[in-house]
Amino acid sequence: MKVIPIRSEDNPLARLMAGDAPAPAPGPLVDRLGRAVHDLRISVTDRCNFRCVYCMPRSVFGKDYPFLPRAELLSFEEITRIVRLFAARGVRKIRITGGEPLLRKHLENLVEQLAAIGGLELTLTTNGVLLPRMAQTLKDAGLDRVTVSLDAIDDATFRRMNDADYPVASVLKGIEAAEAAGLAPVKINMVVKRGMNDHGVVDLARHFRGSGHIVRFIEFMDVGSSNGWKMDAVVPSREIIERIGAEFPLEQIDPNYTGEVAERWRYADGSGEIGVISSVTQAFCSTCTRIRLSTEGKLYTCLFADSGHDLRDLLRGDASDAELDRAIAAVWHARSDRYSEIRTANTARAHKIEMSYIGG
Ligand code: GTP
Ligand code: 5AD
Ligand code: SF4
Ligand code: SF4
Repeated sequence: MKVIPIRSEDNPLARLMAGDAPAPAPGPLVDRLGRAVHDLRISVTDRCNFRCVYCMPRSVFGKDYPFLPRAELLSFEEITRIVRLFAARGVRKIRITGGEPLLRKHLENLVEQLAAIGGLELTLTTNGVLLPRMAQTLKDAGLDRVTVSLDAIDDATFRRMNDADYPVASVLKGIEAAEAAGLAPVKINMVVKRGMNDHGVVDLARHFRGSGHIVRFIEFMDVGSSNGWKMDAVVPSREIIERIGAEFPLEQIDPNYTGEVAERWRYADGSGEIGVISSVTQAFCSTCTRIRLSTEGKLYTCLFADSGHDLRDLLRGDASDAELDRAIAAVWHARSDRYSEIRTANTARAHKIEMSYIGG
């Protein structure tokens, strides 16, 4: 077998691939806790035009922050090659993330290449401000749906959350553009941080009630090492449901599929549904079928991982598809992550990878 160049001696992939492990059997990959890989989340840039306080605080992501240089980024062709291999291993859903993915030039070309693989649901998470320009092009390229982050409907609170002075109207225009292009249903993510935007939970729910868009309220997570996470700032999903339910009666409904991240609730009067994502108070690791590909080509088997498995050196070192497949299989087979289930009060201190780098 040809020698596969691996840059770092302590690359976990190098350890996984050391020795003469037999070629993995074809078909879906299952990890050590019996979970089959189903979703691949791909970060296409570590940059963002927002500086959300819970994700890219300005004190850390300032003018001199060392974002990745262009040459470090995986090309669309490299990404597509990896996705094709994952599709053969059971992945059916792709989520394009960032940073802000719409900042990556000609993203529609990637969407088109992924759509050509076939059999994949193609989705994207964005802050929405570039959607008026891009929504139709992305739809035409084969994108199925978008999720838009929106942390408040009140302009002053929204500007405080994004810390880049974007008005709420710029995101609302993006949501309209997505709907008009048929990127539906549009999902809207609100990260709830106590004392920052939690007073606006019911207002946001009220605004989108009856619109056909699905708002999901997300517990503020201790992802990364720079957002100053504290348990006190988490508003448990139970509380969100109680607050909204006090104004608009709610009924819980069944998940769309096993392992769905959001718990679904509908308005009793039939005016739509909302969701809550309780990764802090009710961890969902036991059904976690997600893997993440970073902007520079590292695989992360958990949002809270402190290191990834570098595929880029393999891609650029002339590895064959079979060798890449072996690497992917080794990473997933070795996986036993369940961070949110075993989180303790101290974990905010541990080194973890930033959300803006790994994707949400
Ligand atoms: P759809 O239901 O298909 O729209 O996808 P989804 O539920 O995966 O939604 P989305 O990708 O928008 O995820 C919503 C949010 O849930 C993310 O931004 C994260 O905050 C959180 N989340 C998603 N996946 C994970 C995960 O694997 N672990 C944890 N802890 N949080 C996650
Ligand atoms: N906690 C919860 N969700 C977060 N996101 C980013 N940072 C956090 C955090 N600390 C999610 C938001 C956003 C997506 C890009 O990432 O849902 O919509
Ligand atoms: Fe940018 Fe999204 Fe992070 Fe906000 S949450 S800083 S929009 S990547
Ligand atoms: Fe999956 Fe890790 Fe999130 Fe648990 S904490 S659901 S293992 S990504």
